[in-house]
This record gives sequence, structure tokens and C-alpha cells, in this order.
Amino acid sequence: MLARARLIAVCLALSACGMDELVGKDVEDPTLLSSPREAEDLDPDPDRVHVRLRATRATHQIGDIRYPGYAYDGRLPGPTVRGKIGDTLLVELENHLDQPTTIHWHGMQVPYAMDGVTWQADPVAAGARFTYSFELSRAGLFWYHPHFDAAGQVDRGLYGAVVVEAPDEPRVDHELVLVFDRWNEASPASGPGSSPHALGPPSRPRHAAETGNAGSFWTVNGKLRPKVELPAGERVRARLLNASTRSYLDLRFPEPVRQLAGDQGLLAQPVDSDAMLLAPGDRAEVELLLGDYDVVLSAAPYSELGGPAVGELEELAAIVTAGSAAAPASSPWPFSGAQASPDPPFSDIVYVFSGDSAGNDWRINGELFPDVTLKEVALGSDAVIEIRNASASEHPFHLHGHAFELLSVAGVAPDARTLEDTVNVRVGETVRVKLRADNPGEWMAHCHILEHAAAGMMTVLRVE
Ligand code: C2O
Ligand code: CU
Repeated sequence: MLARARLIAVCLALSACGMDELVGKDVEDPTLLSSPREAEDLDPDPDRVHVRLRATRATHQIGDIRYPGYAYDGRLPGPTVRGKIGDTLLVELENHLDQPTTIHWHGMQVPYAMDGVTWQADPVAAGARFTYSFELSRAGLFWYHPHFDAAGQVDRGLYGAVVVEAPDEPRVDHELVLVFDRWNEASPASGPGSSPHALGPPSRPRHAAETGNAGSFWTVNGKLRPKVELPAGERVRARLLNASTRSYLDLRFPEPVRQLAGDQGLLAQPVDSDAMLLAPGDRAEVELLLGDYDVVLSAAPYSELGGPAVGELEELAAIVTAGSAAAPASSPWPFSGAQASPDPPFSDIVYVFSGDSAGNDWRINGELFPDVTLKEVALGSDAVIEIRNASASEHPFHLHGHAFELLSVAGVAPDARTLEDTVNVRVGETVRVKLRADNPGEWMAHCHILEHAAAGMMTVLRVE
């Protein structure tokens, strides 16, 4: 009783200064697999979505462990922002942190001034606010996160999903938004034998626990191995996002599932598979047709230094099916069936990713951000970009402000037209993409292992 009284007193003191919130425990059932709460739409106009997001300090409660961190609106993940194609989105960001922050709309084709980057623009100062506003132009699963000290702020818990709906996509019985994050990751530059470097390791260990001890593990929507029971015979659309700053998610399903969508909404052709690799920043959507078996999601060990690794599967979450109805048929998704564009024998832009983890030295074309040479593409034209990985680590290549079409991976063209904003480039591999430069601005192009980007693996593509 005494201990409990003291705990309440501490919480009161913290909320009195408005700085810290306890996220996780007591907020909702930590064992229940459920979508993150949705941001409240403050505008009654059906074609406008107006939400408010407060970035604050927070303490994340994961199982028995507490992690000091940050959160949007005291939630991990932050509230899901939902709208439909053609809506105007307004987001008022209030910065209650003691440092600057921004919001970047990952994968969304927003005007340059709304992109949340600090190249030629100031971040939102501590105590200040900023309103982001743009039109929702493409359906799919996107996400939002800071682009100021992204490696530190995303790692501490600042991220959330954005769902944009299309009028022609079929309704399902359940939709689940699942945001994955990894905790207690070893810092790349702090292992024994690593050499000191001017940029140094992060100021605090990644996702370091305040109490207790644990190896690294995944969470789903901030929860450890949550479960939900759903009736057999139902259709579920699961929208998956890897929000980890550096860990690859090698997802496994007990039976093949139908992948409906990737980074940029519905695929041209569905893919049936029981495995799916989500690099940091990647999204995918799958259709789960519930039958007489439970859908247990697990992760196979995977390292950015060498890909699939030996080890056991880690259970992430489970949908327990109730009843004995047979699995329903797949919904009539409006896949376009579009063909991939031909991969031409030339490149307009070449990015060579190099570096090594021992020195935490990561570069594009030998340069360290912000000392970079701007590449240019004329507004309205197409550009073929070739990304070569000359390092011993994999890198997810991400470009702001545009989607790009995948032309080939290691010389192999995709089976159908594939639009992405984040594409993994394996060790020694070359990935070629086609960009339709239709959004003017000076766009960041970088590795989405955010520690690599922070160390310098970021450049700028000017479209004008
Ligand atoms: Cu999700 Cu520049 O990043
Ligand atoms: Cu990288």
C-alpha cells in the first residue's frame, strides 16, 4: 500500500511538470494484439482530417522493463493517422521535448516545405508548434517519424502509422495495423574491438533499459507477444511496418499468406509466401484468411551483416482462431497487373554505398552528409538511379518526396511493376530504380538504418 502511494506521488510530480508519461502498462491490455489507437479527427468536414500530436518524454513499459524515451500523445506507437485519397490532412505538432524535432511523412509525396527535414529549414524548437498540411494522394500504409536526430528520436519511440484508404479496395472483417520495433539492440560502434570515430557512438545506448536485463527482442505495437482471438472464416487485412532504426525483420507465417501491398499501396500482382523481409522503414500488407489453424507471426534471425543467420524463430504475435469454419476465399483486390518497365542500359545517377561498421563510417559516393554534391533531375523528367552496395552491410535505400519503380535487383527484373520508397540493397548487390521526378524540392536520399544515415550515409537529390 505504501509503495503504491509513493508511486502515485511520483507520477503526480512528473505530470505536474508535464514532462514524463508512462506508456504501456495500465494504458491498455499489454497482452492483447490490437491496432494502435487512431488519432482523433477534430474537423467534422468528411474531406479534411485535422489531428494534433504532442511529442513528449515518456517511459515505455515493455514487460517488466522500463525504458526512458519519447512518445507521441503518450502512445507507443503514436496514434495512427487515417484518411482517404483526396483528403486534406492537417497535423498540429506540439513539441514538449527539451530538444528540437520534426515530423517526416515517410513514403508520402508531400510538398517540400512539409517534408520535415532540416536541410535548408529549421526544426520545430523545444516548446514550439508547427502545422503540417498536405493532400493525401496515394492509398497505402505510410508512417511518420522525426527527421531531426532521427536515429535517437525514432529509437526512443517517436513513430506512428499513416493509413490512406482507396474507394475501390474491398472491406475486410478485421484490419490490424502492426508496428514492429526491436529493443536492446547492440550499438554498432560500441562492441569490443571497435575503433573510436569522430562522430562517435550514440549518446545513449540504443533502447537501453532503465531496469532489469534482457537480450534484444521484437515488440508489436509496443507489446511483447500479444495475442487476439478471432472467428475462423473471417478475412483480416494486416498492415505491417518495421519501425526499427536498424534491425531487419525476417517475418515468417505458419502457412503462405497473400501479400497485397508493399511500400506504395496495392501490388500490381499479389505474391503468396510464408516469408517476408522487412528492412528498416519497409511496409507490407497481407491478407489472412482465418481457417482452422492459428496464425503465429515469428521472426527468423537476420543480420544486416550477412543476411539470414542461424538460430531459432522468435514468436512475435498470434491470432488464435475460434470455431471451425473453413478459411474464406480471397477478396477481389483491384490489382492492376501492370508490367515492369524495361531496365535500360544506362543510368542517370549512380549512388555507391560504402563504409564499414568497425569505424561506423558510412558514405554515399565517398561523401559524408552534409558535405555532399547535389545530383539534379529536371522536374517532369524520368531518371534511372543505380544503387551499388560496395560495403559489407546491407542498406535500405530511401528517397523522399517520390515513389520509384524497381527496374532490377542484381540484374533480375521484378515479375510485375513494383513501386517503392524504401528498397533493400544487399551486400555486393546493385539495385536499379526509375524515378518520375514530379515533385520539386531538395530531397533526402539515404540509408534507413538510421545510425548509418546519422554517420553520414545521406545525400540530396534536387528536382527543379
Ligand atoms: Cu523514414 Cu528520411 O526517412
Ligand atoms: Cu546503411
